[in-house]
Amino acid sequence: MCGIVGYVGDEEAAPVLISGLKRLEYRGYDSAGIAVLGKSGLAIRKSKGALKFLEEKIAGELKEGALNGTLGIGHTRWATHGEPSDINAHPHTDVSGKIAVVHNGIIENHAKLKEWLISHGANFRSETDTEVIAHLLNFYYHGDLLKAVIEALKRLEGSYALGIACEDEPDRIIAVRKECPLVAGAGKGENLIASDVPALLEYTREVYYLEDREIAVLYRDRIEFFNAEGERREKQSSHVEWDAAAAEKGGYEHFMLKEIHEQPKALTDTLRARIKTYATKTINLEEIGFDQSWANANRVVIAACGTAWHAGVIGKYAFERFARIPTEADIASEYRYRNPIFNPRDIFLIISQSGETADTLAAMRMAKKNGNRIIAITNAVGSTLAREADLVMYTWAGPEIAVASTKAFTTQLMCIYLIALQLGRLRETVSDTELASCIEALEKLPEQAEQILAGKENIQRFASQQFNKAKVFYMGRLFDYAVSLESALKLKEISYTHSEAFAAGELKHGPIALVDETTLVTALCTQTALFDKMDSNIKEVKARRAATAVITYEDVDYFDKTADQVFRIPRTLDSLSPILSIIPCQLYAYYCSVLRGLDPDKPRNLAKSVTVE
Ligand code: G6P
Repeated sequence: MCGIVGYVGDEEAAPVLISGLKRLEYRGYDSAGIAVLGKSGLAIRKSKGALKFLEEKIAGELKEGALNGTLGIGHTRWATHGEPSDINAHPHTDVSGKIAVVHNGIIENHAKLKEWLISHGANFRSETDTEVIAHLLNFYYHGDLLKAVIEALKRLEGSYALGIACEDEPDRIIAVRKECPLVAGAGKGENLIASDVPALLEYTREVYYLEDREIAVLYRDRIEFFNAEGERREKQSSHVEWDAAAAEKGGYEHFMLKEIHEQPKALTDTLRARIKTYATKTINLEEIGFDQSWANANRVVIAACGTAWHAGVIGKYAFERFARIPTEADIASEYRYRNPIFNPRDIFLIISQSGETADTLAAMRMAKKNGNRIIAITNAVGSTLAREADLVMYTWAGPEIAVASTKAFTTQLMCIYLIALQLGRLRETVSDTELASCIEALEKLPEQAEQILAGKENIQRFASQQFNKAKVFYMGRLFDYAVSLESALKLKEISYTHSEAFAAGELKHGPIALVDETTLVTALCTQTALFDKMDSNIKEVKARRAATAVITYEDVDYFDKTADQVFRIPRTLDSLSPILSIIPCQLYAYYCSVLRGLDPDKPRNLAKSVTVE
């Protein structure tokens, strides 16, 4: 989730850009850069790492006035294509160096565009998808940047927020967005753009929220708006009432709630670039090198920690279901010490949001040393895991700030399903018809996730009745068991409630001894063939005076008479349900934490990334 700022006015642009970027630091980033348009043209300065490195780099020039200029664009980058480095940092320029671009989002057809641009003389320097935009603008630039932007937009597929400056047009910045945030701020004798409101608040509280494919052209004294066809639009500004801290969280009370709400978008980003439509829809994992050579494996071995391990447990069911391949999912810290049996024909799938968890890396290195090939699923481009694995699939969830993982988990699941289905295709265990129905179901998930979020008040109400329960148990079977594990972890992490998960069939082998009137038991019920088994389990805990809740599909009334409370999620395939059924459980944990007066973003004793053993 990159951060964009842009400024045109009477002040020196560089300090304004740096202070705006600082306000966007909360979004997470791994490199930063600015372009300032001064008397001698565009000056671009970039640096890998924290903003302070960029500040150190330009400190001397700022003093000497060598970076003077009152128009500029700036960027903090969260790497998606190409590792964090000075070269991959934004702004990117065209061949002439006259057009500079900062970009947030993913250009899905960048590979095709790059090929085409190279054949038209472009010379690429970075590994980013963004650079194609700069070259494309150059191709269409004939003295009018706005016209070039309109033409270039016709060629871009994917998501973007863009800030564009051109040496030959020193009085204006052009901004446009599609599916990525971008706001324009109207000041007095100065105008700005930013990915988010906090970066503008020092200068103005009058903001324009850009619509999809709407273009803003910013001059010192005015902002003009156009649609993607270049027709003028009138637009009303909004007055911002929030303070800067609230604005960083996009108006949400906590990062965790914000990240829970970001799941529909994150799921779309993770999925969309991997689905290709020719005559029919297929999964395309060629970009990561997942080809036939992976098909004749003996076994899939998954190793991970915490939430990522729970994703791995779902992976076990998904690989066995779709690719009919024996799969085990192990906790990385266990795996590394159990003297495991290696077979060079095993596929190792290593899952880690951060790509830096010590135990997970140790498990991966053991497998590598034994000659195994590694697939990594991670959210962090350039992380140790990403660098050392043979093949990397990024979750593209954007930075996760809250310690408790939410959007990283559901996007890890999306990656797992794509790999499992594609392996099934390669091993001929998934038919054309099944693939088509799975892709159709996957594509519906973001919107279905949105529907669940729209009903969050039901969960909040239920939490307000239950948050003081001494014990909360989650139970389910198969995929629902794995979701139970993650649900119990979420609740204990941030509300400090004693919560456990168990496979519902295990109820009678121990957990039932703990069930009494102080217990809430939530049953995950999305495995249609096992509804009657789950129904019996719910009756068993109810007979011991536990409060009961069920999470099931919207069209299922099977549990209405059994459970005290039924939460409904949209209908999907039983094997894909975890991406939806976890959302009510995330929300429940969040509300319990808040109701208990805790800070869900920073639970005690826990760290976001555990880089030591
Ligand atoms: C910590 C975090 C968890 C995370 C786990 C694994 O415990 O608090 O949210 O699931 O590490 O982290 P990873 O970055 O490897 O996914």
